[in-house]
Amino acid sequence: MDNTFMTGYLQKPLTLGADATVYSATKFYGGHADLNAGSITLNDTDLYNEFFFYQNTLGATLSPFDSYTLLRGIRTLAIRLDRQQENVAAVIAALKRHPAIDQVLYPGWYSPAEAAIQKKQARGFGAVISFSVKPSVDLGVFFEKLQLIDLAVSLGGVESLVCRPTTMTHAPTPRTSCRRSASVTTWFASRSGSRTRTTSSMIFLRP
Ligand SMILES: Cc1ncc(COP(=O)(O)O)c(C=O)c1O
Repeated sequence: MDNTFMTGYLQKPLTLGADATVYSATKFYGGHADLNAGSITLNDTDLYNEFFFYQNTLGATLSPFDSYTLLRGIRTLAIRLDRQQENVAAVIAALKRHPAIDQVLYPGWYSPAEAAIQKKQARGFGAVISFSVKPSVDLGVFFEKLQLIDLAVSLGGVESLVCRPTTMTHAPTPRTSCRRSASVTTWFASRSGSRTRTTSSMIFLRP
């Protein structure tokens, strides 16, 4: 399971039955958008030995400086995520009140039952949300008018960013059921009745 968005601070998939958890440590663990790293967490010794064999043989290890940067980032992970979650709650409330916003999505948004599962399995819902705007909104103008949040792809760092998946991160994903199953934005576009102008955006919040 890829637990990058939640991190081990908010959710521990191995204790919930997962065999392996992968993280892009480039994101919340590093926390400052200044390194590329990843990790696999396992609770099976055979699997661990297999991965260790490849890591050792192929030399897929971090440089000393990246290791230092990552360790330093992890030290402030909990404080950063606590603050990011406070901020994201304020942003969700503001988006829900805004007349130009169609839907706001985050783990647990869909129903009280889903929210209860999220509450049981994790300490919060992280700091990555997505939202869709009403068809009447001109996205070019929307992005241009943002003052605190940059239009760029990354997450987990100290900047608050927004991205438009249909034309950025998920542009290569086919515009069919594939996007739907991956929860990519065409789904929202079709629900809002305008394929060309409406899209959801992801917002990545800083501490
Ligand atoms: C959920 C998730 N997993 C993995 C990755 C890959 O991360 P990396 O660039 O560190 O390989 C990303 C990158 O955006 C991601 O968002």
